Amino acid sequence: MKKIIMTFITGLALVTASMSTMAEIQSLRGAHALDKPSETLDKRKQIKQKDGFERSYKIQPPMIPHTTEKDRISLKNNSCMKCHSEKNHEKEKAPRIGDSHYIDRDGNKLSDLSSRRYFCTQCHATQVDADQLVENDFVGAK
Ligand code: HEC
Ligand code: HEC
Repeated sequence: MKKIIMTFITGLALVTASMSTMAEIQSLRGAHALDKPSETLDKRKQIKQKDGFERSYKIQPPMIPHTTEKDRISLKNNSCMKCHSEKNHEKEKAPRIGDSHYIDRDGNKLSDLSSRRYFCTQCHATQVDADQLVENDFVGAK
């Protein structure tokens, strides 16, 4: 009998504990209904970072340390390559696209940008000066 009562009390404690955690969890979108279109976010100013952003691990795509508001990437034109290409990077004093950007999917080395790396902002992101949405104590690998 004692054992049954103990099990019951433990069970009750667990339910109460999980109910209180449930109350604390709140979606970042707040009370905004799931089937309603998302609200447009405020446009934030992109920041510049002198000497670039530190990478968190060796093969991380480096974050973009300048603004890209005027840059356009389309089928015909990629304005990032005006500065970062093999041909122009020295003149523009910009870092050349990474070595991995010259390798095609079969591992062959190309003389120019691989189509796999054409859409730069798929991997490289500009940054804004924003507060963290949730507490974050991530530390990069050294
Ligand atoms: C007008 C020339 C110019 C254009 C256009 C340009 N960049 Fe840059 N980029 C630079 C320069 C110069 C640097 C070196 C850091 C600095 O001075 O801001 C740089 C740095 C970077 C870096 C950081 C590299 C590292 O090792 O930290 C990335 C990533 C990058 N650019 C990506 C892009 C992407 C993606 C675009 C297009 C959306 C773009 N850039 C357009 C000139 C340019
Ligand atoms: C699929 C992901 C991906 C795409 C797309 C991509 N990059 Fe990268 N980029 C990386 C990674 C990963 C690195 C780090 C490894 C390396 O240097 O190859 C890097 C490195 C760089 C660097 C730093 C090179 C150095 O020597 O430090 C520059 C500059 C850069 N990329 C520019 C660009 C530009 C411009 C484009 C578009 C034309 C682009 N990247 C497209 C993933 C990507």
